[in-house]
Amino acid sequence: MSNYHIKHLEEYFQVYRRSVRNPENFWEEIAEEHFLWRKKWNKVLEWDFTKPEVKWFSGAQLNITENCIDRHLHVRGDKTAILFEPNNPDEPAEHISYLELHKRVSKFANVLKDKGIKKGDRVVIYLPMIPELAVSVLACARIGAIHSVVFAGFSASALATRINDCEAKMVITSDGSYRGAKTIDLKGIVDEALESCATVDKVLVAKRINSDIQLKENRDEWLQPLLDEAYGDCVPEIMDAEDPLFILYTSGSTGKPKGMMHTTGGYMVYAAYSFKNVFQYREEDVYWCTADIGWITGHSYIVYGPLANGATTVMFEGVPSYPDYGRFWEIVQKHKVTQFYTAPTAIRALAKENLDFVTKYDLSSLKVLGTVGEPINEEAWHWYNDHVGEKKCPIVDTWWQTETGGIMISPIPFSTPTKPTYATLPLPGIQPALMDENGKEIKGNQVDGRLCIKYPWPSMARTIWGNHQRYKDTYFSAFENMYFTGDGALRDEVGYYRITGRVDDVIIVSGHNLGTAPIEDAINEHPAVAESAIVGFPHDIKGNALYGFVILKETGESRDRNNLRNEINQQISDKIGPIAKLNKIQFVPGLPKTRSGKIMRRILRKIASNDLSNLGDTSTLLNPEVVDQIIKEAL
Ligand code: WTA
Repeated sequence: MSNYHIKHLEEYFQVYRRSVRNPENFWEEIAEEHFLWRKKWNKVLEWDFTKPEVKWFSGAQLNITENCIDRHLHVRGDKTAILFEPNNPDEPAEHISYLELHKRVSKFANVLKDKGIKKGDRVVIYLPMIPELAVSVLACARIGAIHSVVFAGFSASALATRINDCEAKMVITSDGSYRGAKTIDLKGIVDEALESCATVDKVLVAKRINSDIQLKENRDEWLQPLLDEAYGDCVPEIMDAEDPLFILYTSGSTGKPKGMMHTTGGYMVYAAYSFKNVFQYREEDVYWCTADIGWITGHSYIVYGPLANGATTVMFEGVPSYPDYGRFWEIVQKHKVTQFYTAPTAIRALAKENLDFVTKYDLSSLKVLGTVGEPINEEAWHWYNDHVGEKKCPIVDTWWQTETGGIMISPIPFSTPTKPTYATLPLPGIQPALMDENGKEIKGNQVDGRLCIKYPWPSMARTIWGNHQRYKDTYFSAFENMYFTGDGALRDEVGYYRITGRVDDVIIVSGHNLGTAPIEDAINEHPAVAESAIVGFPHDIKGNALYGFVILKETGESRDRNNLRNEINQQISDKIGPIAKLNKIQFVPGLPKTRSGKIMRRILRKIASNDLSNLGDTSTLLNPEVVDQIIKEAL
């Protein structure tokens, strides 16, 4: 029996039991047998959730890129590591072998060094889904620089906040990006952001759309000529297992995004282990995750997890609707994709279109389907199962978070029987608990509560960059000696988990985490706005959409409401990005508040989803009369 690769249900249960009985032994064996270390650890795990402090494999030394690239060169040097599929279907796909990847990462790493980037420096990467994105991430890891990828759909202001928070020295971007039929001026967004960032002294610009952009003297340089000149080999920086690998920002319930910091050794072990088991990857497979590398899913399951297993990983630049709604399936057929991993929001959008877009392609190469990012509803699950998997492919509904670094609860295909809308069982090493409101663990089955994790796992984030107190307050203070996920979950009669959604002020729209606070801050900056509250309401495709309740200042009362709505959305788009725009904006005379001044979002959520059956007791409100008025004018 192998701990590393689980092949049937009984084996899963055996491995799981062992992983809980003796976690340190379990992870030690996996780390030892399947990875390349320059020096072994002194201790597998040290932890204290009250501080909180967690260290895995301390004393060990490694470089993650040696694990993801170098060690494959003799066995599969000519195998495709990254298969790049461009936005435009007429542009040929690019097959980047492990040998070629080694050369490209080495050259890029040498360019970074040449520009003064050293171990521990932060580099912000703001690129579209082109090979340079994966290569720059790996190049940072090669020299021990800490990468922070910012999704290239974020606005200049959101980009600047992240650059300033981690005090990045360099930004890597491109002259623009393709998105379906549109192009986006990424360099213009970077220029605007950098007006308020003092720490950045270099910008490297990849050429993608051949647009006519300005390079700022002494700051900006085209990337390609530097790469052409660079030496094609770069000795990897030797890193401690607990040295930071990357920072990735995620939304919280207060205004500022949280820079989740992940370290090297444990992250590598868990990303690789979970990839192997959840996707049952085999040597000849072609694996495709449609996420953007700007999100954690792309970090762990486009770049690090697949490459550590010597996989072929597809990188797709475009969108599912361009040139038509068959694009995903055309790519599956073209590259004979075996594992396909996407978000429920994409499935719902595609399920709305004519079935011909799916049926005209040969999808017989597919073996495993996956979803991530939000709960998948039953209808979408069945559509995916019937029409994409043709009832032959297990669907892995994978629950995890930016903070967890890797998949935590998921079926293991061909082992765990799936159940629509259930993420099913924890992976080995993961010890979930459901907690009640009084902080007591709820044991047994057919129960629901707040989802916590009782014991450390190797890929958990170690801190919030620059704010350890916030890390403690957010994740380790709600329940004693537990990591609190912020999600609610239920456990069914056989012990399967179903994630029921966030229990805090984070709303998931199209699979993207959005905090209510930063959006409200953006709205409130509009000169005509006095106060606002946003809530999520169910939406066919996005899962949730945003509903804003806005109180106007007197000066705003006389203004045209539709113009105001457009301006408010523009404001949100500028401050955060188009993903955070509101679907509905209702102007209200007041907001329902408790006597201590807290907005009662529960009531607003009910109004937004047009569910007025059980508003609960409103008599304790400071201003109960406002509720009737809001209901009367609801959109
Ligand atoms: C939600 C994405 C239900 C959840 C990897 C979590 C899910 C948040 C699932 C993290 C799933 C993720 N079923 N809900 N399979 N996967 N979520 O940080 O609320 O972008 O806390 O990480 O997405 O989102 P994040």
